[in-house]
Amino acid sequence: MAALVARARRVLAGRRLKRSTRYPPTASTGSLAGSCLADRRLWDQLHTRPRLAGVPTFDWFFGYEEIQELLFPLLQKARATAPLRVLDVGCGTSSLSAGLYTKSPYPVDVLGIDFSPVAIAHMNGLLEGGQDQAPLCPGHPASCLCFMQADAQNMVPIAPSGSFHLVLDKGTWDAVARGGLPGAYQLLSECLRVLSPEGTLIQFSDEDPDVRLPCLEQRSCGRTVTVQELGPFKGITYFAYLVKGSC
Ligand SMILES: C[S@@+](CC[C@H](N)C(=O)[O-])C[C@H]1O[C@@H](n2cnc3c(N)ncnc32)[C@H](O)[C@@H]1O
Repeated sequence: MAALVARARRVLAGRRLKRSTRYPPTASTGSLAGSCLADRRLWDQLHTRPRLAGVPTFDWFFGYEEIQELLFPLLQKARATAPLRVLDVGCGTSSLSAGLYTKSPYPVDVLGIDFSPVAIAHMNGLLEGGQDQAPLCPGHPASCLCFMQADAQNMVPIAPSGSFHLVLDKGTWDAVARGGLPGAYQLLSECLRVLSPEGTLIQFSDEDPDVRLPCLEQRSCGRTVTVQELGPFKGITYFAYLVKGSC
């Protein structure tokens, strides 16, 4: 653990380290090895895999609990009459959107999108309940949650410009970038388009700041880009990349 912290400090101090996006073994072993993580069919397969008994969500990197302290100050601006609009791009079957909905003491209006219909069907099943599971309950009476199949690289059909106060990307840039940086830049451009002028985009990743920051700084058209170290969680240090302010 100490070695990982020291490594992250060296990165933050500006030493160039090799890109090191990590994925759980299920995503990188077996017949899926070498597959392109930007390919929807691969994601449909991954989201179909059985989950641990009693654990209805699967998180890449870490879950909602690990980052709620970072999110709360941003959510505090919400009022009961106007819940904060939050977009989770490439939500997968993560606990992030569901955690915000069920645990945020501040009112939130959360939309989780993913291009995998398998992930969206799973999350809608979780939201609505059924069989031996109760439907999800909001942590604030004015909070709402919705999941929708959509391509995060083209959100024009589902989201007008400036319509979200907070856009969250946990691992989605990392997956899309496996198909090439142009796709990742298109994702970023769409995230910034749907962000309100005073809003914040947060990318959660394990990618080193010396790799990610130049990409974000070049493509965020004058917005302020900062990075916060997260964790270590299970011995791994992660980063939150925050993009704030209007062009
Ligand atoms: C590394 S997983 C992260 C999932 C989830 N955010 C989490 O933290 O557990 C990347 C997710 O992005 C989704 N994805 C990849 N490309 C996408 C695209 N163009 N539009 C929407 N979702 C996409 C995949 O289906 C997958 O659920």
